[in-house]
Amino acid sequence: MTKYIGILTSGGDSPGLNAAIRGVGKASLNHYGMHIIGFRDGFRGLMENRTMRLDGGQLSDILTRGGTILGTSRDKPHRMPVGGKVLDMTDVIVGNYHDNHLDALVCLGGGGTQKNALRLKEKGLNVITLPKTIDNDVAMTDTTFGFDTALGIATEAIDRLHSTAHSHHRIIVVEIMGHRAGWLALGAGIAGGADVILIPEIPYEVESVAEAIRERSRSGKPFSIVAVAEGAISMQEHLAMLAAQDKKPKTKGGKKGAAIPPAHATEIQYADHTLRLAKKLEQLTGLEARVTILGHLQRGGIPSAADRLLATRLGTACADLINEGHYGVMVAAKGDGTRAVKLDDVAGKVKTVPPDHPWVESARRVGTNMGD
Ligand code: F6P
Repeated sequence: MTKYIGILTSGGDSPGLNAAIRGVGKASLNHYGMHIIGFRDGFRGLMENRTMRLDGGQLSDILTRGGTILGTSRDKPHRMPVGGKVLDMTDVIVGNYHDNHLDALVCLGGGGTQKNALRLKEKGLNVITLPKTIDNDVAMTDTTFGFDTALGIATEAIDRLHSTAHSHHRIIVVEIMGHRAGWLALGAGIAGGADVILIPEIPYEVESVAEAIRERSRSGKPFSIVAVAEGAISMQEHLAMLAAQDKKPKTKGGKKGAAIPPAHATEIQYADHTLRLAKKLEQLTGLEARVTILGHLQRGGIPSAADRLLATRLGTACADLINEGHYGVMVAAKGDGTRAVKLDDVAGKVKTVPPDHPWVESARRVGTNMGD
């Protein structure tokens, strides 16, 4: 029996999405003789039944393209803005799945997408996901596609900032994406030789950062690069947040909200935080400071070779699983291969940087100040 599969991309776009669509599409069409249709703009397109043919031609010439040919959105099936209200559209989505005679739905996305996919699985749909995000924060997979490309972009930015920081004897504070995880700032900071790396998982003392910068000046290097994750937090803010959590009434099960990592507890004022940090470092060191916010540059453009390879490996493994009728899983990267991980084991988890992770240890060994 020919299988019919639908595919969508959800959440922030990420380099490698088109490579993954091509991987799933070509393997399912050409190797297994399945039918595949795309839904536009994530779960919203599935709710509105806006489809895109993916029958061969559309899958050509997209391997190297950035973004996603399907479009994406951050809409959630159970909380979708419709006509000025926020409604649960899950039943409409389930209806469209059946109206399109789908045997499986492939969702390419990050942490939020894994949760949404699990909800649809619980409604009886055959769902299968792939882990994509530049943040590298999806649980149960070695890595996510998009991360390697963003790592390269952020590292190149740090390389370029070095020469201007050096020439002007300045501090350059470069803000790197990653949401509530520090993988991108840590990886790019190490690869770019940042003098200070601040990540959400290690609350920082601004005086420790200032002293590291002053020490560099004393040793004849009156310039510094501070790589700061957008979710980084000072120890002072961290303690204030814990105290606020402590005051919160206990939840039904008697437990309080998770205390670690701290930045999960609140909305993060990304750019504002970085600007304030730069100002403070100016005051404490007497050096001039400048801020560079890399922002969405890190998500744009062609995917790296490593991301194209990873997305293709995961995409073709996804087609294999659909062929076997193995659903309710995320196709995770595991060493050189892949493995199917139950959505229940992934959804709702965030893979943050363990403070004693080998990358952190390496950064410290080469003299990088981690803010503590
Ligand atoms: O999850 C990817 C990511 O780029 C995060 O690093 C960042 O915090 C967020 O998305 C930005 O989201 P948006 O593109 O919706 O502003």
